[in-house]
Amino acid sequence: MPLMIEDPVDGPKGQALWTRADAVLPGGGIYLSRSADMAGRGVLPGFIVAAEGCRITDPDGRRYIDFLSANGPNILGYRHPEVEAAVARQAERLTSASMFPDTLVEVIERLLARFPGFAWGVVSKNGSEVVSLGARVARQHTRRRGLITFTAAYHGSDPELATLPQPGPLTELTGDVWRLPWNDPQALVDHCRAHGEASAAIILNPLDQNPRHPTVAPTTDFIAAIEQVRAQHDVQLVFDDVRHGFRLHPEGSHKGLGLEPDITTFGKALGNGHAISALLAREHLRRAARKIFYTSTYMFEATPMAAAMAVLEIYDRDRVFDHIVAMGQRLCDGLAAGAAKAGHAVDISGPPTMPTLLFANDEDGARQRRFAREAAARGALLHPALNWNLSGAHAPADIDETIAIAAEAFALTPPA
Ligand SMILES: Cc1ncc(COP(=O)(O)O)c(C=O)c1O
Repeated sequence: MPLMIEDPVDGPKGQALWTRADAVLPGGGIYLSRSADMAGRGVLPGFIVAAEGCRITDPDGRRYIDFLSANGPNILGYRHPEVEAAVARQAERLTSASMFPDTLVEVIERLLARFPGFAWGVVSKNGSEVVSLGARVARQHTRRRGLITFTAAYHGSDPELATLPQPGPLTELTGDVWRLPWNDPQALVDHCRAHGEASAAIILNPLDQNPRHPTVAPTTDFIAAIEQVRAQHDVQLVFDDVRHGFRLHPEGSHKGLGLEPDITTFGKALGNGHAISALLAREHLRRAARKIFYTSTYMFEATPMAAAMAVLEIYDRDRVFDHIVAMGQRLCDGLAAGAAKAGHAVDISGPPTMPTLLFANDEDGARQRRFAREAAARGALLHPALNWNLSGAHAPADIDETIAIAAEAFALTPPA
């Protein structure tokens, strides 16, 4: 089943931008997660020039209902007016400063109040930075080097934690990282029996969510094994809530799993498109953290901190979690019905706020890409290689329009 790459979704302006981009960007793995190449060149628009609510506009002026939310951040919708107003107010007063901005203290206080049990926090820019910082704090505290994580778990672009094979000498950087099978309590217990005294931390995502496989939640036995090895071997639990934070449980995904991690990390949705991530940790780790040198020029930018405080307020006030659950469920139900009507066997997994749709018997993903291309050509961005992210800006009418577009896209996708 050939994919119609000769008929790309990009219009003439988008195609011209690709020509320029190919000349000045390295390509390959660099920027891959945001490159339309991840979906297959031409399947989705390669460039976005504007975004508002849940709609994005490409360089040729074509508009799409967006279900990526910029790979997660835009939990309230693009350019939420109250968030943008908070950022503008902060910018009138202070952006970056020579000493701590007062906003730094305020945002960490708000985060600690919002996610009880943690004693101190650090804010940064991206998820990768705070997850890796969490690993450093755990190592410093335990005086051990080993990290435990799970087979396909993504924890950011730090080469040590990379899931994609790293080239040449970079491979050696993963030497202290053990990747164990997900949902295999015995493997974890056995590993810690042998290497517990060398293991600083378990780095844990709340779900095994790899877009080429159905999403798998942790079993209660697996969670119990995590608790067991923490208690027996003093292995620290570094929770990676960068992707799922605010979309699985309003009080942090760890709450949904009944876990009280030593460290948790947020990114993406925290700033609704403004660059801020956060690490929150328990008191016993404060001494270790004090020994670590960690800084960057723009970590102290006050405007994303103002954005985060506005996000926390609006998210609770507007019951955004309940809304995205309802909209996600409506979308999943509509897509399941549309697929069945067109004779497709599909698997829709993951929480309704972050669903993954997979076609049966589609090992090379060609059917998935064809569906995504036909949906994009009709105005809905349903990425074929990343989970989708619902936002507060998705209204029932946007979901219903998407379901109607998807019905056409399913009809144009040859069944298995
Ligand atoms: C689970 C998880 N951890 C960490 C990261 C890294 O975050 P960032 O891309 O902001 O560095 C991501 C990004 O997708 C993620 O999904």
